[in-house]
Amino acid sequence: MDVSKARYLYPLCSVVAVTLIGASSVDTTTDLRFKQPVLSSTNMSLTGHFVTTSAGVQMPRFIYGTAWKKDRTTDLIMKAVLAGFRGIDTANQEKHYREDLVGAALGQLQQNHGIRREDLFIQTKFTSVDGQDPRTIPYDPKAPLQEQVHQSFAKSLTHLNTSYVDSLVMHGPMRTHEDTMVVWKVFEEFHSQGKAKQLGMSNVYELKKFERIYKDAQVKPSVLQNRFHADTAYDTELRAFCKAHNVIYQSFWTLTANPHILKSQVVRDMAAKYNKTTEQIFFRFVMDLGIVPLTGTTNEQHMRQDLEVLDMQPLTENEMAHIEQLMIREFSAHRL
Ligand SMILES: NC(=O)c1ccc[n+]([C@@H]2O[C@H](COP(=O)([O-])OP(=O)(O)OC[C@H]3O[C@@H](n4cnc5c(N)ncnc54)[C@H](OP(=O)(O)O)[C@@H]3O)[C@@H](O)[C@H]2O)c1
Repeated sequence: MDVSKARYLYPLCSVVAVTLIGASSVDTTTDLRFKQPVLSSTNMSLTGHFVTTSAGVQMPRFIYGTAWKKDRTTDLIMKAVLAGFRGIDTANQEKHYREDLVGAALGQLQQNHGIRREDLFIQTKFTSVDGQDPRTIPYDPKAPLQEQVHQSFAKSLTHLNTSYVDSLVMHGPMRTHEDTMVVWKVFEEFHSQGKAKQLGMSNVYELKKFERIYKDAQVKPSVLQNRFHADTAYDTELRAFCKAHNVIYQSFWTLTANPHILKSQVVRDMAAKYNKTTEQIFFRFVMDLGIVPLTGTTNEQHMRQDLEVLDMQPLTENEMAHIEQLMIREFSAHRL
């Protein structure tokens, strides 16, 4: 990498710029994490199947995502939970999710398999009008914003046939900070009523924006759910903020946005060494950073493989450093 170009980098903190410059002459035998302290995302324990969030919620360390499953939603959730997943992510956004069919799965799991609602971590989202298909908005789009949030959440509880969700997430910030906080205030009401055990944000890619939301929130976000990819430098700064404030970072696009890493010789060698797939190695790496990944796999073998990752030993410091280098190189390639 041409170090002189580093000043043209996407506006990242100097720590990352220094890291990138350092990466040009990397000695792969040294532990790069000492040079890249911001890549680690959390102070939480890196082993076990659950993490306790800032709201005191037991959140699974691997969450099953239900987007794009359409009519197969119920069947796939049943398979995922019977395979061992205990966390489910959905949204009241028919364009991409069938929240009602998530509810159907919860009913069947209870009735036919004795898996109770309280045995599961259920996370849903409020999606603004901007993120909805105009034909399937689950609330009156002309109603005042607070009322939209009330209507949407009431429908979520009906869809899911439950009196509470474990996690309620804003699918994305509103057009203005003021409106974001209007929605958040209603979320805080649900939280104080025990109807949403924790609150979170999604799709916030600017540190300043997230800092402002965090500062103005009375009930602080417990999770940030974001796309984990090179275009945003893997949210390095945001993850450092999350770590400092005990916000758990949830990742999506974890596999699909990172084929270069999955295909790399480095990861293939690790997969051979541990007798795992490259996908399992990368999920383990992400978990070792303290991230809670989502997977939406539709394949039962992949469900089992994904769950196996929870019981793998953490990667070594050197292995972590090698994969971090791949991320840095990818980021540089995107930006220089
Ligand atoms: N907040 C947001 O805006 C947002 C946006 C997108 C997604 N999400 C959430 O995140 C969830 C996950 O979505 P995603 O975009 O990360 O991708 P995804 O829908 O989980 O797709 C991941 C891809 O990885 C493959 N895969 C998974 N495990 C594998 C394994 N062990 N080996 C090989 N291939 C494997 C899957 O293929 P197979 O099906 O063949 O296994 C699939 O093609 C969604 O369902 C949703 O809940 C949220």
